[in-house]
Amino acid sequence: MKLASYKKYVTTPISIPEGRVGQYSIKHTPIKPGAQLESTNMRFAYYGEPIPYFKIDYPDGGMIHSLLKDRGSVLMTDNPIELLGQAPFIHKAKGDVLIGGLGLGVVAEFLANKKTVKNITVVERSDEIIKLVQPHINPRINIVHADLFDYLEKVERLSWSSAWFDIWSPTSEWVWSRYILPLRVIVGRRFGYQAQLKVSCWAESLMLNQLLESYERMADIPAERLKNEPAYWIWRKGIERFKTVPEDRLTNLSLKSSSDIVKKLEASGGEPYEGLKEDMSPLDMLMHIKQSNKDNRDLQGATRVFFSGMGLDIWEQMFGKYYDEYVQMRPHKVRGDEEHELEDVEEHV
Ligand SMILES: C[S@@+](CC[C@H](N)C(=O)[O-])C[C@H]1O[C@@H](n2cnc3c(N)ncnc32)[C@H](O)[C@@H]1O
Repeated sequence: MKLASYKKYVTTPISIPEGRVGQYSIKHTPIKPGAQLESTNMRFAYYGEPIPYFKIDYPDGGMIHSLLKDRGSVLMTDNPIELLGQAPFIHKAKGDVLIGGLGLGVVAEFLANKKTVKNITVVERSDEIIKLVQPHINPRINIVHADLFDYLEKVERLSWSSAWFDIWSPTSEWVWSRYILPLRVIVGRRFGYQAQLKVSCWAESLMLNQLLESYERMADIPAERLKNEPAYWIWRKGIERFKTVPEDRLTNLSLKSSSDIVKKLEASGGEPYEGLKEDMSPLDMLMHIKQSNKDNRDLQGATRVFFSGMGLDIWEQMFGKYYDEYVQMRPHKVRGDEEHELEDVEEHV
C-alpha cells in the first residue's frame, strides 16, 4: 500500500454524538487547533504492521470518539493509529465482507463508502453497543446480534470474500491464543484452509511477532510448564515427536550457570547441544540454544503450520488433537471469555 493511500484513512468516517446505553458510552475528546498526531507508535512499528510513520496536522482542531465500558476501559477509539491499523484490510476489501465486532463502526463505515464492497455483515455481541452506534452509521451495514464464536459455528454457508475480526482490545501475545487461534480453527474446520486465509485480524502480526520471538526458547520448555498458555502448550505437544525435552531441562536459564546446565543435561541423559560449552555465560548459552532451535528445519516448518495452517490436514494431524484436549481442559482460555479476563491477566504477571 502506498503512502498516499494510507493518507486517505487518517480522517474518521464516523460522526456519533456523546451518549450512553447501559454500561457503554461514547465520549468526545477534542484535538486542539494546530495539534499534530502520529500515524503509528513504537509498539506497532517494532512488532506490528509496517504502517509508515508520518504526522497528521489538525490546523483547525478535531475530535476523537471513544467507546468506553463502565469502570473506564476503552474498547475503541478513532485516533489515527486505530484508523491506519485497519487501513490495509479496508483498502483491499471488496465484494461481501464479514466483520466481527462493531465497536464504533469505523471499519464498517469505511467499507460502506467503497463502491466495490457489495454487502457488509457485522456480528456484534452487545445489544447496548448496537443501540449506541447503529442509528449513526450507514443503513446498508447489516448488523447481526450474536457472539462471533457461535455465529461462525452455526452459519450454514460461507458467502464472504474477506473477513475482519476485532473483538479484543489488548494486543499481547496471549490474546492470539484466546481469540484468534479459536476463531481461525472454527473457520478452518468448518469451511477449509482457503476460507481461513480470507480472515484478517486486528493486530495479529503484532501478536505473532511476540509469539515468534519466544518460540525458540519455548521449544526447550516441557509442555507441562506451558499449560497456562494455550498456544504454547498445543504447539509444544505437537512438536514433541521431533523435539523431546527432559523434564528438568533449561526452564529457568537466566538463573543458572552454564556449567550447572551442562551437568544437568549429562545427568538427565538429555541430548547436549552442539557447541554448548561449560564456560559460556547464561546469556551466551541462551542465545546459542535459541539459534540451534532457529536452525532446526523441522521445528521451523511445524511452527509455520501451527500459526497459519488451520483447516489443513497437516494442522489437524500435528495439532488438532491437542487443541481439542486444551479446549476440554480449560475452555474459557480458548474462547475470549471476558469473565475470566482478570484472572488470566493475573496469571500472566
Ligand atoms: C475493538 S471493538 C471493534 C472496533 C471496530 N473494528 C471498529 O472499527 O470500530 C470490539 C468489539 O467487539 C465486540 N465483541 C467482543 N466480544 C465479542 C464476541 N464474542 N462476539 C461478537 N462481538 C464481540 C465488542 O462488544 C466491541 O464492540
